[in-house]
Amino acid sequence: MNIAQRKFDTLVIGAGGAGLRAALQLSQAEATVAVVSKVFPTRSHTVAAQGGMNAALGNVTDDNWHWHMYDTVKGSDYLGDQDAIEYMCRAAPKTVVELEHFGVPFSRLENGSIYQRPFGGQSQNFGGEQAARTCAAADRTGHAMLHTLYQQNINAKTHFFDEFFAVDLLKNKRGDILGVLAFDIESGEKIIIEAKTTLIATGGAGQLFRTNTNASINTGDGLAMALRAGIPLQDMEFFQFHPTGVAGKGMLITEGVRGEGGYLINAEGERFMERYAPHVKDLASRDVVSRAIAIEIREGRGCGPNKDYVLLKMDHLDAEVIKKRLPGIRDTCMTFLGIDPIDQPVPVFPTAHYTMGGIPTNKNAQVVVPVGTGGEEAIPGLYAAGECACASVHGANRLGGNSLLDIVVFGRAAGKHIIDYLKSHRRHQALPDESIEQALQRLAHWETGALEHESSDHENSDHAKNVSVAQLKNRLQQVMEEYCGVFRTEDVLAEGVKAVQDIKDQLEYAHISDHSSIFNTARIEALELENLVELGLATVTSALARQESRGAHSRVDYQQRDDERWMKHSLYYLQDNRLCYKPVRTKPMTVDTFPPKERVY
Ligand code: FUM
Repeated sequence: MNIAQRKFDTLVIGAGGAGLRAALQLSQAEATVAVVSKVFPTRSHTVAAQGGMNAALGNVTDDNWHWHMYDTVKGSDYLGDQDAIEYMCRAAPKTVVELEHFGVPFSRLENGSIYQRPFGGQSQNFGGEQAARTCAAADRTGHAMLHTLYQQNINAKTHFFDEFFAVDLLKNKRGDILGVLAFDIESGEKIIIEAKTTLIATGGAGQLFRTNTNASINTGDGLAMALRAGIPLQDMEFFQFHPTGVAGKGMLITEGVRGEGGYLINAEGERFMERYAPHVKDLASRDVVSRAIAIEIREGRGCGPNKDYVLLKMDHLDAEVIKKRLPGIRDTCMTFLGIDPIDQPVPVFPTAHYTMGGIPTNKNAQVVVPVGTGGEEAIPGLYAAGECACASVHGANRLGGNSLLDIVVFGRAAGKHIIDYLKSHRRHQALPDESIEQALQRLAHWETGALEHESSDHENSDHAKNVSVAQLKNRLQQVMEEYCGVFRTEDVLAEGVKAVQDIKDQLEYAHISDHSSIFNTARIEALELENLVELGLATVTSALARQESRGAHSRVDYQQRDDERWMKHSLYYLQDNRLCYKPVRTKPMTVDTFPPKERVY
């Protein structure tokens, strides 16, 4: 086989916050680390995170990690695993201080300590007064973190494969993951990267939906690679809609706006969140606020000529607060809407934001799968962290500010565990040719096949519609928005499953270009769409099966949470679109369980 081959101790796929935090830990321990990223690392989607990262530092209000844990368990609608949540909330303060020492330029309070703002679902003393727990670098926190982590990795001599696309994981018969087949996007040159350990850190799949806050790169590549490798995906029915995307466009308007005192109004000028969450109002958790906006609009109280958005008001805030704490939001509003939020409210609507489900992991970021005896075990040497993973610290609804925390806590945990693992696993395992062949076949289809279909198979195929990859992607995003949005019902979801399956069938015969020369970027769009389609099926199939409302999964036909039947995680397998379930880990590491209660804000 005439393909370049390289060997490393650890392969990290994805260069966002989780991948870079793990890579740093490993490079500093003198492991050889390859980071494969389809974009230049500082363009990874972590760069777009705005409002901040939660940690109970107590710089602005009294706080402690146990209150943070309570809020996270409640926010998750009791689907989060309490051992992992305890681990994350306990680790948060030292993780922030570590980032500060790496050089992250956090905003400061007058006394020089790290600035913290209130975010949704945060409380003091287990449900009491509002806490201010979100550590921020103005409204560009992810940008500050990602650039700092990248610089630290350069200093630590991490090896980067920038603008390389990972096609598929390579494995042996036993299922051990031994590396990846990737190609250089510029030249098309293929490469096999062999590794003793692999960390998947490829982010979420927000591109499943037409209106979303995500970068166009967020196509869930790592999730789909895991599925194809036989690993199930957990809790895919839970997709977060952020309440405040720019109406009709989707770009994120940070929850930090409401944290700084902004609030939502309907067409009647009413501060409607007072009705839905009398205690915390606009700082209720995201699922609650998104549903409230959707109801206001459905009941005819939306703003604008089509009554299809609500307004986010911040014109009552001191202009200096907006300039100092929310400069990126002001820029976005002025650039894309021609509105200065200092003077005018901003039209907003819920927008797809975050994949709560993902590759099942434990608190060491090891990938875990069910075993015959009813328990689960870790796949040796395989890890996942960040949005592509499901630890599960977010359960059915993630709290704002917990995702930047998740990526650094579990990136770091993965790094630490891998260092130990490498001590007793010093050799590379043999990589079987069949695994490489299989990955090459996936690529080959889009190297030649897509054009050939146009001229030959096309006429003979029942599926042939002369449809392009771009058309199918638009169709998928539309289907997911229409059939699997904020409110869901059995009939509509069942239609959604059929519609996504139909897109999957058509994709086999789709073409990627009307020209004889095809750019590698067009091939990548096809490979990405294959990934998205599998994740669309996973999402809508899991949503159809879950007959209750919990967190972000809101079933009009099953409006209550049903702990007796449904307090369990779903696991979706690629083969036969099969679903099975496993229990929620309700026992924390050292403290008492937070038992399920009615969730009011
Ligand atoms: O609203 C925001 O700034 C988003 C934060 C998050 O999703 O954690």
